[in-house]
Amino acid sequence: MRQAGRYLPEYRATRGKAGGFLNLCYTPALAEEVTLQPIRRFGFDASILFSDILVVPDALGQKVAFQEGEGPVLEPFTDLKALGKLDLTKIRSHLAPVYETVERLSKSLPAETTLIGFAGAPWTVATYMVGGRGSPDQGAAKAWAYRAPDEFQVLIDLLVEATIEHLSAQIEAGAEVIQIFDTWAGSLPPLSFERFALQPVKKIWAALLAKFPDVPVIAFPRGAGAQMVNYFKETGISAISMDTGVSPAWAREALQPLGCVQGNLDPLLLVAGGPEMRAQAEMILATLSGGPFIFNLGHGIVPQTPPEHVAELVKLVQEWKS
Ligand code: CP3
Repeated sequence: MRQAGRYLPEYRATRGKAGGFLNLCYTPALAEEVTLQPIRRFGFDASILFSDILVVPDALGQKVAFQEGEGPVLEPFTDLKALGKLDLTKIRSHLAPVYETVERLSKSLPAETTLIGFAGAPWTVATYMVGGRGSPDQGAAKAWAYRAPDEFQVLIDLLVEATIEHLSAQIEAGAEVIQIFDTWAGSLPPLSFERFALQPVKKIWAALLAKFPDVPVIAFPRGAGAQMVNYFKETGISAISMDTGVSPAWAREALQPLGCVQGNLDPLLLVAGGPEMRAQAEMILATLSGGPFIFNLGHGIVPQTPPEHVAELVKLVQEWKS
Protein backbone atom coordinates (compact mmCIF):
# COMPACT_ATOMS: atom_id res chain seq x y z
CA MET A 1 0.00 0.00 0.00
CA ARG A 2 1.01 3.64 -0.24
CA GLN A 3 3.91 4.38 2.14
CA ALA A 4 5.14 7.76 0.92
CA GLY A 5 2.88 10.75 0.50
CA ARG A 6 1.38 13.90 1.85
CA TYR A 7 1.16 12.69 5.48
CA LEU A 8 4.96 13.10 5.71
CA PRO A 9 6.44 16.63 5.91
CA GLU A 10 9.67 15.43 4.25
CA TYR A 11 7.61 14.13 1.29
CA ARG A 12 5.86 17.49 0.91
CA ALA A 13 9.23 19.25 0.93
CA THR A 14 10.69 16.97 -1.79
CA ARG A 15 7.52 17.18 -3.89
CA GLY A 16 7.72 21.00 -3.68
CA LYS A 17 11.30 20.86 -4.94
CA ALA A 18 10.30 18.59 -7.85
CA GLY A 19 7.65 21.03 -9.08
CA GLY A 20 4.80 18.58 -9.66
CA PHE A 21 3.95 14.97 -9.04
CA LEU A 22 5.00 13.52 -12.41
CA ASN A 23 8.36 15.32 -12.25
CA LEU A 24 8.84 13.62 -8.92
CA CYS A 25 8.10 10.23 -10.50
CA TYR A 26 10.48 10.92 -13.41
CA THR A 27 13.46 12.31 -11.44
CA PRO A 28 15.35 9.25 -10.15
CA ALA A 29 17.24 11.00 -7.31
CA LEU A 30 14.00 12.50 -5.93
CA ALA A 31 11.86 9.39 -6.46
CA GLU A 32 14.58 7.40 -4.69
CA GLU A 33 14.57 9.90 -1.82
CA VAL A 34 10.77 9.75 -1.26
CA THR A 35 10.88 5.94 -1.41
CA LEU A 36 13.54 5.90 1.32
CA GLN A 37 11.86 8.48 3.61
CA PRO A 38 9.27 6.14 5.18
CA ILE A 39 11.90 3.36 5.51
CA ARG A 40 14.25 5.67 7.43
CA ARG A 41 11.44 6.85 9.67
CA PHE A 42 9.62 3.58 10.36
CA GLY A 43 11.82 0.64 9.26
CA PHE A 44 9.14 -1.28 7.35
CA ASP A 45 10.16 -4.80 6.24
CA ALA A 46 9.45 -3.91 2.61
CA SER A 47 9.61 -0.76 0.55
CA ILE A 48 7.36 0.14 -2.39
CA LEU A 49 8.87 1.99 -5.32
CA PHE A 50 7.63 5.58 -5.55
CA SER A 51 5.81 5.97 -8.87
CA ASP A 52 2.16 5.81 -9.98
CA ILE A 53 -0.03 3.40 -11.89
CA LEU A 54 -0.78 6.17 -14.43
CA VAL A 55 2.79 6.44 -15.75
CA VAL A 56 1.77 3.59 -18.10
CA PRO A 57 -0.87 5.58 -20.06
CA ASP A 58 1.54 8.53 -19.99
CA ALA A 59 4.21 6.34 -21.63
CA LEU A 60 1.71 5.01 -24.18
CA GLY A 61 1.11 8.58 -25.36
CA GLN A 62 -2.03 9.61 -23.44
CA LYS A 63 -0.88 12.70 -21.56
CA VAL A 64 -1.48 12.55 -17.81
CA ALA A 65 -1.53 15.56 -15.47
CA PHE A 66 -1.80 15.56 -11.68
CA GLN A 67 -3.57 18.69 -10.52
CA GLU A 68 -3.21 19.80 -6.91
CA GLY A 69 -6.31 18.79 -4.95
CA GLU A 70 -7.96 17.23 -8.02
CA GLY A 71 -6.12 13.97 -8.64
CA PRO A 72 -5.13 12.73 -12.10
CA VAL A 73 -6.55 14.18 -15.33
CA LEU A 74 -6.19 12.51 -18.76
CA GLU A 75 -7.56 13.29 -22.23
CA PRO A 76 -10.36 10.67 -22.27
CA PHE A 77 -11.21 8.46 -25.25
CA THR A 78 -13.89 5.90 -26.01
CA ASP A 79 -13.21 4.63 -29.53
CA LEU A 80 -10.81 2.39 -31.38
CA LYS A 81 -9.46 5.22 -33.52
CA ALA A 82 -8.03 7.05 -30.51
CA LEU A 83 -6.74 3.74 -29.19
CA GLY A 84 -4.72 3.32 -32.40
CA LYS A 85 -2.57 6.30 -31.37
CA LEU A 86 -1.23 4.55 -28.29
CA ASP A 87 2.32 3.30 -28.82
CA LEU A 88 3.44 0.18 -26.97
CA THR A 89 7.05 0.58 -28.06
CA LYS A 90 7.51 3.66 -25.86
CA ILE A 91 7.24 1.94 -22.45
CA ARG A 92 10.94 1.24 -21.91
CA SER A 93 12.24 4.56 -23.22
CA HIS A 94 9.61 6.83 -21.62
CA LEU A 95 9.82 5.04 -18.27
CA ALA A 96 13.63 4.70 -18.20
CA PRO A 97 13.78 7.13 -15.18
CA VAL A 98 11.49 4.79 -13.23
CA TYR A 99 13.78 1.82 -13.90
CA GLU A 100 16.78 3.93 -12.94
CA THR A 101 15.02 4.69 -9.63
CA VAL A 102 14.60 0.93 -9.04
CA GLU A 103 18.30 0.36 -9.79
CA ARG A 104 19.34 3.08 -7.36
CA LEU A 105 17.03 1.71 -4.66
CA SER A 106 18.31 -1.82 -4.98
CA LYS A 107 21.69 -0.38 -3.95
CA SER A 108 20.57 2.20 -1.36
CA LEU A 109 17.94 0.23 0.57
CA PRO A 110 19.11 -1.78 3.59
CA ALA A 111 19.84 -5.38 2.48
CA GLU A 112 17.01 -6.75 4.66
CA THR A 113 14.38 -4.42 3.14
CA THR A 114 12.52 -6.01 0.22
CA LEU A 115 11.92 -3.78 -2.80
CA ILE A 116 8.41 -3.99 -4.27
CA GLY A 117 7.76 -2.88 -7.84
CA PHE A 118 4.19 -2.35 -9.03
CA ALA A 119 1.68 -1.55 -11.72
CA GLY A 120 -2.04 -0.94 -11.96
CA ALA A 121 -4.14 -3.82 -13.29
CA PRO A 122 -5.46 -3.26 -16.83
CA TRP A 123 -9.08 -2.71 -15.70
CA THR A 124 -8.21 -0.04 -13.12
CA VAL A 125 -5.82 1.77 -15.48
CA ALA A 126 -8.50 1.60 -18.22
CA THR A 127 -11.07 3.27 -15.92
CA TYR A 128 -8.81 6.36 -15.72
CA MET A 129 -7.89 6.25 -19.43
CA VAL A 130 -11.50 6.08 -20.58
CA GLY A 131 -13.05 8.33 -17.92
CA GLY A 132 -10.25 10.89 -18.02
CA ARG A 133 -10.25 11.08 -14.21
CA GLY A 134 -11.27 9.16 -11.10
CA SER A 135 -15.02 8.53 -10.80
CA PRO A 136 -17.19 6.99 -8.10
CA ASP A 137 -18.79 4.41 -10.44
CA GLN A 138 -16.24 3.90 -13.27
CA GLY A 139 -19.22 4.76 -15.52
CA ALA A 140 -17.32 5.72 -18.68
CA ALA A 141 -15.21 2.54 -18.84
CA LYS A 142 -18.25 0.38 -18.00
CA ALA A 143 -20.31 2.05 -20.73
CA TRP A 144 -17.69 1.05 -23.32
CA ALA A 145 -17.09 -2.42 -21.85
CA TYR A 146 -20.84 -3.23 -21.91
CA ARG A 147 -21.72 -1.55 -25.24
CA ALA A 148 -18.81 -3.10 -27.19
CA PRO A 149 -16.94 -5.67 -25.09
CA ASP A 150 -14.76 -6.91 -27.96
CA GLU A 151 -13.63 -3.36 -28.68
CA PHE A 152 -12.91 -2.68 -25.03
CA GLN A 153 -10.95 -5.94 -24.98
CA VAL A 154 -8.50 -4.37 -27.47
CA LEU A 155 -7.64 -1.74 -24.84
CA ILE A 156 -7.35 -4.37 -22.09
CA ASP A 157 -5.07 -6.55 -24.26
CA LEU A 158 -2.85 -3.57 -25.02
CA LEU A 159 -2.61 -2.82 -21.30
CA VAL A 160 -1.74 -6.46 -20.57
CA GLU A 161 1.24 -6.16 -22.95
CA ALA A 162 2.26 -2.74 -21.58
CA THR A 163 2.06 -4.01 -18.00
CA ILE A 164 4.17 -7.12 -18.73
CA GLU A 165 6.81 -4.86 -20.30
CA HIS A 166 6.71 -2.34 -17.44
CA LEU A 167 6.93 -5.00 -14.71
CA SER A 168 9.65 -6.97 -16.55
CA ALA A 169 11.78 -3.81 -16.74
CA GLN A 170 11.29 -3.19 -13.00
CA ILE A 171 12.35 -6.78 -12.18
CA GLU A 172 15.38 -6.50 -14.46
CA ALA A 173 16.32 -3.30 -12.60
CA GLY A 174 16.11 -5.00 -9.20
CA ALA A 175 12.47 -5.22 -7.97
CA GLU A 176 12.19 -8.35 -5.79
CA VAL A 177 8.39 -8.62 -5.50
CA ILE A 178 5.61 -7.22 -7.69
CA GLN A 179 2.23 -5.89 -6.59
CA ILE A 180 -0.63 -5.38 -9.05
CA PHE A 181 -3.27 -2.86 -7.91
CA ASP A 182 -6.84 -3.45 -9.12
CA THR A 183 -8.47 -0.71 -7.08
CA TRP A 184 -11.76 -0.85 -9.01
CA ALA A 185 -12.04 -4.65 -9.52
CA GLY A 186 -14.97 -4.85 -7.10
CA SER A 187 -17.20 -2.61 -9.17
CA LEU A 188 -17.46 -5.22 -11.95
CA PRO A 189 -20.32 -7.76 -12.05
CA PRO A 190 -19.19 -11.44 -12.12
CA LEU A 191 -18.97 -12.08 -15.86
CA SER A 192 -17.10 -8.82 -16.47
CA PHE A 193 -14.91 -9.42 -13.41
CA GLU A 194 -13.85 -12.75 -14.89
CA ARG A 195 -13.09 -11.22 -18.29
CA PHE A 196 -11.62 -7.81 -17.44
CA ALA A 197 -10.12 -8.28 -13.95
CA LEU A 198 -9.20 -11.96 -13.51
CA GLN A 199 -8.07 -12.99 -17.01
CA PRO A 200 -5.74 -10.01 -17.61
CA VAL A 201 -3.94 -10.55 -14.27
CA LYS A 202 -3.68 -14.27 -15.02
CA LYS A 203 -1.98 -13.45 -18.36
CA ILE A 204 0.40 -10.96 -16.77
CA TRP A 205 1.39 -13.42 -14.06
CA ALA A 206 1.88 -16.28 -16.57
CA ALA A 207 4.21 -14.10 -18.65
CA LEU A 208 6.22 -12.97 -15.63
CA LEU A 209 6.43 -16.47 -14.17
CA ALA A 210 7.90 -17.79 -17.43
CA LYS A 211 10.62 -15.11 -17.39
CA PHE A 212 11.23 -14.60 -13.67
CA PRO A 213 10.22 -17.75 -11.77
CA ASP A 214 11.62 -16.48 -8.46
CA VAL A 215 9.71 -13.20 -8.28
CA PRO A 216 6.44 -13.40 -6.31
CA VAL A 217 3.39 -11.44 -7.46
CA ILE A 218 0.80 -10.01 -5.05
CA ALA A 219 -2.54 -8.85 -6.48
CA PHE A 220 -5.02 -6.48 -4.85
CA PRO A 221 -8.50 -7.01 -6.33
CA ARG A 222 -10.12 -4.40 -4.11
CA GLY A 223 -13.78 -5.00 -3.30
CA ALA A 224 -13.88 -8.45 -4.93
CA GLY A 225 -15.30 -10.13 -1.80
CA ALA A 226 -16.02 -13.84 -2.18
CA GLN A 227 -14.81 -13.70 -5.81
CA MET A 228 -11.30 -13.56 -4.34
CA VAL A 229 -11.39 -17.35 -3.85
CA ASN A 230 -11.76 -18.13 -7.53
CA TYR A 231 -9.45 -15.23 -8.44
CA PHE A 232 -6.67 -16.62 -6.24
CA LYS A 233 -7.10 -20.17 -7.63
CA GLU A 234 -7.48 -19.21 -11.29
CA THR A 235 -4.73 -16.59 -11.55
CA GLY A 236 -2.28 -18.70 -9.55
CA ILE A 237 -0.66 -15.54 -8.08
CA SER A 238 1.66 -15.88 -5.06
CA ALA A 239 -0.31 -13.72 -2.62
CA ILE A 240 -3.60 -11.86 -2.40
CA SER A 241 -3.97 -8.44 -0.82
CA MET A 242 -7.25 -7.89 1.02
CA ASP A 243 -9.16 -4.64 1.34
CA THR A 244 -10.57 -3.36 4.62
CA GLY A 245 -13.96 -5.05 4.14
CA VAL A 246 -12.62 -8.65 4.10
CA SER A 247 -13.15 -10.62 7.32
CA PRO A 248 -9.85 -12.07 8.57
CA ALA A 249 -11.66 -15.12 10.02
CA TRP A 250 -13.20 -15.82 6.61
CA ALA A 251 -9.85 -15.25 4.89
CA ARG A 252 -8.16 -17.78 7.20
CA GLU A 253 -10.63 -20.47 6.07
CA ALA A 254 -11.20 -19.50 2.44
CA LEU A 255 -8.00 -17.82 1.19
CA GLN A 256 -5.03 -18.78 3.35
CA PRO A 257 -5.13 -22.49 2.35
CA LEU A 258 -4.55 -21.26 -1.23
CA GLY A 259 -1.49 -19.15 -0.42
CA CYS A 260 -0.22 -16.03 1.29
CA VAL A 261 -2.69 -13.32 2.33
CA GLN A 262 -1.91 -9.64 2.92
CA GLY A 263 -3.87 -7.00 4.77
CA ASN A 264 -6.00 -5.37 5.90
CA LEU A 265 -6.18 -2.69 8.59
CA ASP A 266 -8.48 0.21 7.71
CA PRO A 267 -6.24 3.22 6.91
CA LEU A 268 -8.71 5.37 8.86
CA LEU A 269 -7.86 3.43 12.02
CA LEU A 270 -4.34 4.71 11.45
CA VAL A 271 -5.76 8.24 11.45
CA ALA A 272 -7.56 7.63 14.75
CA GLY A 273 -4.74 5.69 16.45
CA GLY A 274 -5.20 4.68 20.11
CA PRO A 275 -6.83 1.58 21.61
CA GLU A 276 -9.21 0.99 18.69
CA MET A 277 -6.34 0.86 16.18
CA ARG A 278 -4.35 -1.45 18.43
CA ALA A 279 -7.29 -3.79 19.10
CA GLN A 280 -8.17 -4.16 15.41
CA ALA A 281 -4.52 -4.67 14.38
CA GLU A 282 -4.12 -7.34 17.08
CA MET A 283 -7.25 -9.11 15.90
CA ILE A 284 -5.86 -9.30 12.35
CA LEU A 285 -2.49 -10.54 13.61
CA ALA A 286 -4.05 -13.13 15.93
CA THR A 287 -6.33 -14.45 13.19
CA LEU A 288 -3.88 -14.67 10.29
CA SER A 289 -0.35 -14.97 11.61
CA GLY A 290 -0.64 -18.76 11.98
CA GLY A 291 -0.28 -19.11 8.20
CA PRO A 292 1.44 -17.32 5.31
CA PHE A 293 0.66 -13.67 6.01
CA ILE A 294 1.90 -10.12 5.35
CA PHE A 295 0.54 -7.45 7.67
CA ASN A 296 -0.55 -4.36 5.72
CA LEU A 297 -3.32 -1.81 5.36
CA GLY A 298 -6.56 -2.47 3.49
CA HIS A 299 -5.89 0.54 1.23
CA GLY A 300 -3.40 3.42 0.95
CA ILE A 301 -2.36 5.79 3.76
CA VAL A 302 -4.43 9.00 3.70
CA PRO A 303 -2.90 12.52 3.93
CA GLN A 304 -4.35 13.35 7.39
CA THR A 305 -2.56 10.36 9.04
CA PRO A 306 -0.40 11.41 12.03
CA PRO A 307 3.08 9.89 11.49
CA GLU A 308 3.24 8.98 15.23
CA HIS A 309 0.36 6.54 14.70
CA VAL A 310 2.30 4.79 11.92
CA ALA A 311 5.30 4.47 14.25
CA GLU A 312 3.06 3.02 16.97
CA LEU A 313 1.54 0.46 14.58
CA VAL A 314 4.93 -0.64 13.22
CA LYS A 315 6.15 -1.17 16.78
CA LEU A 316 3.06 -3.23 17.62
CA VAL A 317 3.50 -5.46 14.56
CA GLN A 318 7.26 -5.88 15.02
CA GLU A 319 6.89 -6.76 18.68
CA TRP A 320 4.20 -9.30 17.80
CA LYS A 321 6.62 -10.91 15.36
CA SER A 322 9.34 -11.34 17.93
O1 CP3 B 1 4.73 4.84 -1.39
C1 CP3 B 1 3.97 5.11 -2.32
O2 CP3 B 1 3.30 6.12 -2.32
C2 CP3 B 1 3.94 4.15 -3.48
C3 CP3 B 1 3.65 4.75 -4.75
C4 CP3 B 1 2.20 4.80 -5.22
C5 CP3 B 1 1.49 6.00 -5.55
N1 CP3 B 1 0.32 5.66 -6.14
C6 CP3 B 1 1.97 7.37 -5.33
C7 CP3 B 1 0.98 8.47 -5.29
C8 CP3 B 1 1.36 3.74 -5.52
C9 CP3 B 1 1.58 2.25 -5.27
C10 CP3 B 1 0.18 4.29 -6.12
C11 CP3 B 1 -0.92 3.49 -6.65
C12 CP3 B 1 -2.09 4.13 -7.25
N2 CP3 B 1 -2.18 5.33 -7.91
C13 CP3 B 1 -3.37 3.49 -7.32
C14 CP3 B 1 -3.70 2.09 -6.83
C15 CP3 B 1 -3.77 1.96 -5.36
C16 CP3 B 1 -4.83 2.83 -4.73
O3 CP3 B 1 -4.41 3.73 -3.98
O4 CP3 B 1 -6.00 2.60 -4.96
C17 CP3 B 1 -4.23 4.40 -7.97
C18 CP3 B 1 -5.71 4.18 -8.24
C19 CP3 B 1 -3.48 5.54 -8.35
C20 CP3 B 1 -3.93 6.74 -9.11
C21 CP3 B 1 -3.79 7.99 -8.33
N3 CP3 B 1 -2.58 8.56 -8.00
C22 CP3 B 1 -4.81 8.81 -7.80
C23 CP3 B 1 -6.30 8.53 -7.94
C24 CP3 B 1 -4.19 9.88 -7.16
C25 CP3 B 1 -4.85 11.09 -6.53
C26 CP3 B 1 -5.53 10.78 -5.25
C27 CP3 B 1 -4.60 10.90 -4.10
O5 CP3 B 1 -4.62 10.03 -3.21
O6 CP3 B 1 -3.87 11.90 -4.04
C28 CP3 B 1 -2.78 9.68 -7.24
C29 CP3 B 1 -1.72 10.56 -6.68
C30 CP3 B 1 -0.67 9.89 -5.87
N4 CP3 B 1 0.03 8.78 -6.23
C31 CP3 B 1 -0.15 10.37 -4.63
C32 CP3 B 1 0.89 9.48 -4.27
C33 CP3 B 1 1.80 9.58 -3.07
C34 CP3 B 1 -0.58 11.66 -3.94
C35 CP3 B 1 0.46 12.58 -4.39
C36 CP3 B 1 0.53 14.00 -4.22
O7 CP3 B 1 -0.40 14.73 -4.60
O8 CP3 B 1 1.62 14.41 -3.79
